[in-house]
Amino acid sequence: MNPYEQIFENNRQWVAEMKTRDADFFSKLAADQNPDYLFIGCSDSRVPANEIMGLGAGEVFVHRNIANLVVNTDLNAMSVINYAVSILHVKHIIVCGHYNCGGVRAAMIPKDMGLLNPWLRNIRDVYRLHETELDAIGEEHARYNRLVELNVYEQCRNVVKIAAVQSEFLHTGFPRVHGWVFDMNIGLLQDLNIDFDKMLQDIRKIYNLMD
Ligand code: CO
Repeated sequence: MNPYEQIFENNRQWVAEMKTRDADFFSKLAADQNPDYLFIGCSDSRVPANEIMGLGAGEVFVHRNIANLVVNTDLNAMSVINYAVSILHVKHIIVCGHYNCGGVRAAMIPKDMGLLNPWLRNIRDVYRLHETELDAIGEEHARYNRLVELNVYEQCRNVVKIAAVQSEFLHTGFPRVHGWVFDMNIGLLQDLNIDFDKMLQDIRKIYNLMD
């Protein structure tokens, strides 16, 4: 069996396994979704959201793009976040970056990347915001890793700037926003322990959209 056909065989095996565990698994799955988590991660094939969190179908709403960016003119990301917050009422929004991120790496190289330029500019803007700190890191790989982390911080801030996020939090106490980094060298998720309350408070000085 070739690798492409193997996927359908894998799928049939998964169906059989899930039915063995719970005969009603698929009727429950089809009925509704009620995930507590929105995961915003990188499209990188080495960052499989459900797998690294140990969560199954129905447990996490997922949005992925190159370098896990939250750009306010990106109708796709904004739709996902607004739906997750206002309709699904997720309790946690996670922005998950990862070391060895090709998007972040590309943004560190000052050259024309064609169609990717406007996308990578968002990461270059993160570099510019934290230029003093980053330039003080002599070793290039350490600087690269730090940019991955700072990008997560800034994308969390971008989530907190969204009106629906502020409004839902004001009314229900959720969602809370978290920044993670996945270290594929060892497989572990690291919580950057972002102070969400302080971040929200700081953001509201300029971006207060609560009503
Ligand atoms: Co990446």
